[in-house]
Amino acid sequence: MRRFENQVAIVTGAAGGIGAATAARLGREGAAVVAADRNAGGAEATASAIRDQGGDALAVQADVTDRAAVEAMLAAALARYGTVHVLANIAGIAHGEPFLQASDEWWDKTLAVNLTGVFYCSQVIARHMVAHQIAGRIVNLASTNGLVGEASLAHYNASKFGVVGLTMTMAIELGPHNIRVNSVCPGLIKTPLTQRSYTNPVWAAEYAKKIPMNRFGEPEEVAAAVAYLASEDSGFITGAQLVIDGGQLTF
Ligand SMILES: NC(=O)c1ccc[n+]([C@@H]2O[C@H](COP(=O)([O-])OP(=O)(O)OC[C@H]3O[C@@H](n4cnc5c(N)ncnc54)[C@H](O)[C@@H]3O)[C@@H](O)[C@H]2O)c1
Repeated sequence: MRRFENQVAIVTGAAGGIGAATAARLGREGAAVVAADRNAGGAEATASAIRDQGGDALAVQADVTDRAAVEAMLAAALARYGTVHVLANIAGIAHGEPFLQASDEWWDKTLAVNLTGVFYCSQVIARHMVAHQIAGRIVNLASTNGLVGEASLAHYNASKFGVVGLTMTMAIELGPHNIRVNSVCPGLIKTPLTQRSYTNPVWAAEYAKKIPMNRFGEPEEVAAAVAYLASEDSGFITGAQLVIDGGQLTF
């Protein structure tokens, strides 16, 4: 399947986990990929892996909490490829702290990366898409934690509920411009972000009881859903939250 021939996709958080898997998937399907991350070496590793597979990719160092850096990321994409069709907002952080001990520092950091970052990237790139009448697609990484709560993750949950609200609102306002905006809501996916949890056998066995499929997800399984929402296969879907959790939210 090569659904992204002659298309350009910006992927944030592309240095690791779900972002790297998504960049690889879009690259395999023919997109020219702008692999953006605050981790320059990781972004370059993702981009060079795509090029090694015969694809086209550019690494850009960008901190999504810095509007000027986001503007520079778009400028770099345009300088190299001239246009942008797809934005995958994947950069994110998580830090567990019980609510009563939650710190201002982690509250501010989490909201800045997970929510303000999605706002900056989406607004900067949507303005370009609207100005150039591009039928664009924006896919945001929310979470099952954007649909239900979970202990010790108040700031993370608030940020992901925010992403869901932002997704719905952007879908309303950008729909008339032929730009679709959707979220994916993964459950527990095996990435560097969750490694400390899923490699703890006691924790993992207890958590798996909450998942009908009795396993954790793979980054590639989320990448496939992002690619679907970024492709014409989802042509009439906008403002939706696609849950990828092995059935966890069914009970
Ligand atoms: N892993 C899961 O179980 C899971 C579940 C639901 C949602 N998510 C979401 O998926 C996304 C990717 O998570 P992951 O598990 O692949 O994590 P990860 O830690 O493997 O990757 C996150 C990437 O984001 C980058 N990043 C962090 N802050 C940034 C910033 N300010 N600017 C630019 N890049 C920045 C990191 O350098 C890293 O490469 C996140 O938004 C996360 O909240 C993950």
